[in-house]
Amino acid sequence: MATNRTFTMLKPDAVEKGHIGAILEKINASGFRIVAMKLTQMTKADAQEFYAIHSERPFFGELVEYMTRGPIVAAILEKDNAVEDFRALIGATNPAEAAEGTIRKLYAASIGENAVHGSDSDENAAIEGAFHFSGREMF
Ligand code: RTP
Ligand code: MG
Repeated sequence: MATNRTFTMLKPDAVEKGHIGAILEKINASGFRIVAMKLTQMTKADAQEFYAIHSERPFFGELVEYMTRGPIVAAILEKDNAVEDFRALIGATNPAEAAEGTIRKLYAASIGENAVHGSDSDENAAIEGAFHFSGREMF
């Protein structure tokens, strides 16, 4: 059975536009329990490490600039089938292709600035959660 935790970030564009409350409301309404949460800002080194898998991609520099330009909300979420269900809730990477009602359809501006992150596997959910939170910050 799939593990029941995923990791998310409400990205700098979502925080700048005042969408924290609306996005958390959708997350709660979709049955996720908040295990850990904080407002924080990634350094360049943090973002380069977090998104290291994309380091050879042409958009990597822009991605690091974007993800470090202001605070984010980092959170660990719990629910049955959390990783897959959260990816469904946020929608496609490109908001133009995201399904109606998804967080990216509602709040993302472009493929680059797409409001929210969701882990893509159980393994990455655990790695990403541990990147941002100590055991004492998880409930
Ligand atoms: P995320 O990791 O943030 O949840 O997004 P994702 O899985 O849907 O997409 P991924 O392929 O992992 O890309 C990570 C982030 O890089 C930015 N990006 N920009 N300009 C572009 O073509 C482009 N493609 C990706 C986005 O911020 C994307 O979420
Ligand atoms: Mg990804």
